[in-house]
Amino acid sequence: MADLDQLLARIGAAADVQALEAERVAALGKQGAVTALLKSLGSMTAEARQSEGPRIHALRERVGEAIAARRAALEAAALERRLATETLDMTLPVGAGQEGSVHPVSQVMDELAEIFADLGFAVATGPEIEDDWRNFTALNIPESHPARAMHDTFYFPDRDAEGRRMLLRTHTSPVQIRTMQTQKPPLYIIAPGRTYRSDSDSTHTPMFHQVEGLVIDRGIHLGHLKWTLETFLKAFFERDDIVLRLRPSYFPFTEPSAEVDVGYTMVKGRRVLGGSDGWMELLGSGMVHPRVIAHCGLDPDEWQGFAFGCGIDRLAMLKYGMDDLRAFFDGDLRWLRHYGFSALDVPTLSGGVGA
Ligand code: DAH
Repeated sequence: MADLDQLLARIGAAADVQALEAERVAALGKQGAVTALLKSLGSMTAEARQSEGPRIHALRERVGEAIAARRAALEAAALERRLATETLDMTLPVGAGQEGSVHPVSQVMDELAEIFADLGFAVATGPEIEDDWRNFTALNIPESHPARAMHDTFYFPDRDAEGRRMLLRTHTSPVQIRTMQTQKPPLYIIAPGRTYRSDSDSTHTPMFHQVEGLVIDRGIHLGHLKWTLETFLKAFFERDDIVLRLRPSYFPFTEPSAEVDVGYTMVKGRRVLGGSDGWMELLGSGMVHPRVIAHCGLDPDEWQGFAFGCGIDRLAMLKYGMDDLRAFFDGDLRWLRHYGFSALDVPTLSGGVGA
């Protein structure tokens, strides 16, 4: 069929999906040329049909394949075009005044790492998708414990491959467990990171940041805890008149537990940390519960330690003066320009960590 070559050429040259569809209808549609050939088989003699049948069916097959191939090529080209228009060139040079800035949360995390490195602490990390056991059970918060309900946890609907119930970690405390399970004491770590709770108002966001501190060594007592926190807070707020008050409290994973209040002074109607006109609650802490140490496979008669947990967003607000937590996560460039930090402004203890 001389027409076949022409037909295939037209299919191969179809400029777009509509043109291709028109060719398909013209060949394979109800009134199509190939369809007409197929129909003609019915009126042939048996003999003619025997020779013509396979030829006409093969013809239909080739036309069908050519159409499918052209369609795939057109679709791939369309996708390429679309991807080309949707690419974002992240390497675009920025003009003056368009530089990005370091988010206050990142800045505070850098400051924490700097201060604690100086005290001999390493930075530890853990996953944000955590298992129920490390987030709760190993921290002495069993299934029936009311603290589980208090944490407003985001659970995943399905268990993981090992049958574990998974969740978004509600605090950085599971990093204590991971560190004790994988490293040999003595341990001196801080663990800054993202945490999640189903909670939202001007002082709570569903995602927020905490820093955990953990020390496991021999002969550790509350005095070490208080000195460490005092040294940290004086360096962080860059003031020598930071005063701490340890108030008896309760956390399942520490015994005894203490809530740490920091003294503040009223300056032009604002609370400024330092002095002791009043007290504000800043963090939770305590001596690591022997049961937690034992859950991690260590002998609590040999190893003791202290731990603390603190909101990083709150530390940033207190130090840099923002008053709405939600703005931290809006990605508003004006806010970031106002409160952000220069990428070259790396905190150092000698230069003043927040300088
Ligand atoms: N994990 C606690 C919370 O998110 C904070 C905390 C309190 C951490 C006391 C500690 C601690 O390590 O000792 O509310």
